[in-house]
Amino acid sequence: MHPVRNIVILTGAGISAESGIATFRGPGGLWEGHRVEDVCTPEALAADPELVHRFYDLRRAALSGVAPNAAHEALARLDREWPGDLLIVTQNVDDLHERAGATRMLHMHGALKRALCAACGERFDWQGDLPPGTPCPACAAPRMRPDIVFFGEIPYHMDRIEAALSEADLFVSIGTSGAVYPAAGFVRMASAHGARTLELNLDRSEGSGWFDESRLGPAGRRVPEWVEQMLSA
Ligand code: APR
Repeated sequence: MHPVRNIVILTGAGISAESGIATFRGPGGLWEGHRVEDVCTPEALAADPELVHRFYDLRRAALSGVAPNAAHEALARLDREWPGDLLIVTQNVDDLHERAGATRMLHMHGALKRALCAACGERFDWQGDLPPGTPCPACAAPRMRPDIVFFGEIPYHMDRIEAALSEADLFVSIGTSGAVYPAAGFVRMASAHGARTLELNLDRSEGSGWFDESRLGPAGRRVPEWVEQMLSA
């Protein structure tokens, strides 16, 4: 196996499951009887802003009741100690990677603790509730919204992600069902550029067949094992 220098890691809801945050497509993947896919859309935001803003207010508030788990902690350790390039691309909107200490990371679907002005495009750290009609701190337009990438919107940082995938020697996917693109296609992009690919997931996912290797089991066990292996090689 050629030496690994550049690593790209994709994480999904499964890495936060052991912290108590429900995944989207597992049991409990509904919210107040709504499929999440029906709430996270520009159409839902336009049709029922109260419902959509409340959905994110509740999820933002719930963050104070959860903590990073061993998988987040292990990735933060790898981030600190890995001498080569490393990028954690998370689909998650929680702040558990940051709270574990990860720094070489980005949120491709936005973040609960960020708010976006739909008028001027400015983004802000946001802690409390964000009612519809909140005025923008920069331009004063009453157009603040959660800084979340809704279905049908363009994920963030795709240029940087594609550049990292083209340079990756190793691509690792953790806790994601491989159901949503473009993230679900990253394994094939990495492979096409010669990277080895590894999946760490509780169950086989829709993308399992594209990986060189899949290790099934909870992230809280599989991720620390893998990080230890990488840092002791
Ligand atoms: N450890 C590892 N993997 C787990 C664990 C765990 N403890 N628990 C669940 N999983 C796995 C499941 O087997 C599943 O494959 O995590 C995956 C979660 O899949 P989804 O619920 O579909 O979440 P995700 O893949 O992140 O969804 C992608 O879809 O709803 C949109 O924008 C949203 O970012 C999200 C995207």
